[in-house]
Amino acid sequence: MARAEIGLIGLGTMGAALASNIAEKGFPIAVWNRTTEVTRSFHANSGALAENIVPTESLEELVKAIKSPRAIILMVPAGKAVDDQIAALSPLLDQDDLVIDAGNANFHDTNRRAAAGLPMHFLGMGVSGGEEGARHGPSIMGGGDRADWDRVSHILTAISAKTDDGTACATWMGQAGAGHFVKTVHNGIEYADMQMIAEIYGIMRDGLGHTAAEVAETFAQWNKGPLQSYLVEISAAVAGAADPITGKPMLDVILDAAGQKGTGRWTAIEAQHLAAPVPVIEAAVMARNVSSRIGERQLGEAAYGPAPKPLTEGMATADLEQALIAGKILCYAQGFTMISAASESFGWDLPLPEIARVWRAGCIIRSSMLNEMATALSEDAGRNLILAPDFVARVKAGVPALRRVVAAGALNGLACPALAAGLSWFDMFTTARGTANMIQGQRDFFGAHGFDRLDGADSHHGPWGAN
Ligand code: 6PG
Repeated sequence: MARAEIGLIGLGTMGAALASNIAEKGFPIAVWNRTTEVTRSFHANSGALAENIVPTESLEELVKAIKSPRAIILMVPAGKAVDDQIAALSPLLDQDDLVIDAGNANFHDTNRRAAAGLPMHFLGMGVSGGEEGARHGPSIMGGGDRADWDRVSHILTAISAKTDDGTACATWMGQAGAGHFVKTVHNGIEYADMQMIAEIYGIMRDGLGHTAAEVAETFAQWNKGPLQSYLVEISAAVAGAADPITGKPMLDVILDAAGQKGTGRWTAIEAQHLAAPVPVIEAAVMARNVSSRIGERQLGEAAYGPAPKPLTEGMATADLEQALIAGKILCYAQGFTMISAASESFGWDLPLPEIARVWRAGCIIRSSMLNEMATALSEDAGRNLILAPDFVARVKAGVPALRRVVAAGALNGLACPALAAGLSWFDMFTTARGTANMIQGQRDFFGAHGFDRLDGADSHHGPWGAN
């Protein structure tokens, strides 16, 4: 007799961790992996959890092992593997059964699958927190029909991360690709947070001559204040670690070429489509791309000389901290505004305060500041985050330091593209009379595109022909 509450396909790192988490929370789970040996060894190595895990060796066996109507989580690589798996399951499942894609899908693919009229129910679910999160409590962002979410929400809530006040970090975001969209923006912000931390590290290392141990100490201190976050915490740990082979600081032996699977890039591309400015995220994607062109950078350094110069005037650690705080707030304000734009454009009703709440624990960008962001967004979700009184005060306190850091970087060849992008956006955002009148004049000059006038007078074209 079928006894599993749920099934899971794909016992890679994330799938195995998620399956163990589900089993541990008391839900019998049937599992299947393309390679049977992986399934067997996962079960054999599950210790006491094994009694809640049903290993299966074919898709037919998996389907039979799950109580009907079935729910099956896919933890396979995003893209074609998901389509292939859905196709393989289709003849085996009933129309009441539910497939949940828990990989890092492109939300356009999730929209396409939701619209395709699959022969079963379908949810797209963003899961954040890496292996540790999947095993002990991830942040979960669901998308699809609300009724389908409700069918499995008791399991998803049980396995999700909990905030200090006990809130479960598992939320239904909206129809179709809404969950995967929110996860994509999460990852874009993840790229930006990581890049800004790396830029500040660069100023400490190349501008101030700090050792990795000193950098570790600074980040550890900051992690006790407004910057408290998983990424600052692990940056301190990374900076403080020693290489077991050479004994040198780990950071000093790691190649400076960042990899990526593309979710940050998807955020930047989507932001462009939505005309929603996310310059900090775009700069972070650009920086990863430049970082991996090592040969080119070596030629650049040979041609122009080594750029980074010590900051002879020094730089207060408090300025670096304030700059990072300001950069972070500006980045999140952009990210939330992008989510609003998507909500409108795709006809979703994305719950901004809930999104901030679901990111408070379990996920990679979890931080104490998300508590305050959730509060500010609850007061007025339609207002740009940096216009919330609490954040106006924080940004006012941080921007002078951000200017000093970006200016020192520019003058000394210490690249800070993400921090600088945040600052430039802030300067535009806070300038009621900008400079796009020149662009409108140019457009009208060469293409008769027309413009609006400040004085409301009738003439909407310039006198260019007469010149
Ligand atoms: C998470 C992460 C995760 C992501 C990795 C790697 O929320 O748990 O975002 O989903 O895949 O962080 O991403 P990159 O390889 O693109 O850096």
